[in-house]
Amino acid sequence: MAEKASTLLLFGATGDLSRRMLLPSLYGLDSDGLLPDQLRIVGTARTELDDAEFRARAQEALKEHLPEGFYQQGIADRFLARLHYVPLDINDPAGFARLSKTIGDPCHGVAIFLSTAPSLFKPTIDGLKRAGLACPTVRMALEKPLGTDLESSREINDAVAAAFPEDRTFRIDHYLGKETVQNLLALRFANLLFEPLWNSAHIDHIQITVAETVGLEGRADYYESSGALRDMVQNHMLQLLALTAMEPPTDFNATAVRDEKVKVLRSLRRITEADVESHTVVGQYGRGAIDGEPVPGYAEELGRDSPTETFVAIKAYVDNWRWKGVPFYLRTGKRMPTRDTEIFIQFKDVPYSIFAARGATTRPNKLVIGLQPEETISLHLMSKTPGLDREGVRLREIPLDIGLANAFSEYRRRIAYERLLLDLIEGDPTLFVRRDEVEAQWAWIDQIRAAWREKGMSPRSYTAGTWGPSAAIALTERDGISWHE
Ligand code: BG6
Repeated sequence: MAEKASTLLLFGATGDLSRRMLLPSLYGLDSDGLLPDQLRIVGTARTELDDAEFRARAQEALKEHLPEGFYQQGIADRFLARLHYVPLDINDPAGFARLSKTIGDPCHGVAIFLSTAPSLFKPTIDGLKRAGLACPTVRMALEKPLGTDLESSREINDAVAAAFPEDRTFRIDHYLGKETVQNLLALRFANLLFEPLWNSAHIDHIQITVAETVGLEGRADYYESSGALRDMVQNHMLQLLALTAMEPPTDFNATAVRDEKVKVLRSLRRITEADVESHTVVGQYGRGAIDGEPVPGYAEELGRDSPTETFVAIKAYVDNWRWKGVPFYLRTGKRMPTRDTEIFIQFKDVPYSIFAARGATTRPNKLVIGLQPEETISLHLMSKTPGLDREGVRLREIPLDIGLANAFSEYRRRIAYERLLLDLIEGDPTLFVRRDEVEAQWAWIDQIRAAWREKGMSPRSYTAGTWGPSAAIALTERDGISWHE
């Protein structure tokens, strides 16, 4: 068992992620009695605040962001008493000296969470080193984006590695903290049913959709340096793909699981200049409506024209024994008609239909794993339609549906960061991204961007509230496949 952290040092403590996710998650863990009794949470950021002011801000954040009815004054009082604050300008050694005084011995039970702009990672680590806070026993968690391409990601990784060993570096992909994403492993490897069919002999194709209804949300600076490919595909969607496609790990531990994921990422077929136009579609939303409410286009929100994509669809292949020839269609976009994250697996049709001569058509089985907004598993099966069949057999596709929220109604729905923060505090890196994984992800993404540049591909416009440019529909229709909606 790894040593539990007794100090959690939170950089970016006054930021949006901290207010919306991290503080509410830590409160959630505290309310379940999961935080070590002695755990102190030391927040730091540039804003000049004292402990009392930071606690007051944290209390406001909890009231605003916790689910209704979850805030309880008694628990909040206990939680808020854990909070401390040290103002810090990353370029000012005096701030680090103050921090060092508050932290005390950095070599026992210290976990650090960097929730700041990545441009501050290196100066922060340098500051920690100079202040004697970069003890190699410290656990260091890094929030995305971990670079904007392979090179910048390596620079960040090198800077971190110069102070903290890889097995203590916790790279966050918050999708891995989601119950439903972890449940993919349970579905695949705690059931006998699917694994014998989970390969190119039985699966026709796989679709992974992450659709969002939100737009730019005031994140222009970040999003303009990112776009949908780097914001969503490089991390979250490639994690979903890797978990769907990986071989059974030998064990449920950090090394075994991540070894298998990295093999998948390295098997992704390169998308080159020759096939980028037939294998990818990029879009940017124009004016439209979501749920009947008019919304402005991306360029309007931004206040200028921009070449940034807010939608991307990709036809990908995993070139290995199991997945040879099986297309993985990925698509993600902002301002889609609904918020919907799902993995859709279409099996092959039966090899021969005994019902064909009686006028009935069979349709291939499908497994739909819904991750958001609801957690569902739905297996589509063919069934006989009731009746005497005097004019032929009639078959119909019916879903075998499991709603996980109902099946586990006694459990509270947690924020993804609860799991990740607890694992950081307890020292379990299984659900964090290893360096070779993140670099394999960037290597694949970089060559798509290079091919877009070579071909001068720019986003096609789509109306907000639709499923992206029509070319995205053509991407699958050319293969005789429709996107699952
Ligand atoms: C973040 C992206 O990583 O994930 C955002 O930067 C996106 O652009 C978000 O909205 C989606 O997360 P979730 O948990 O709402 O699916």
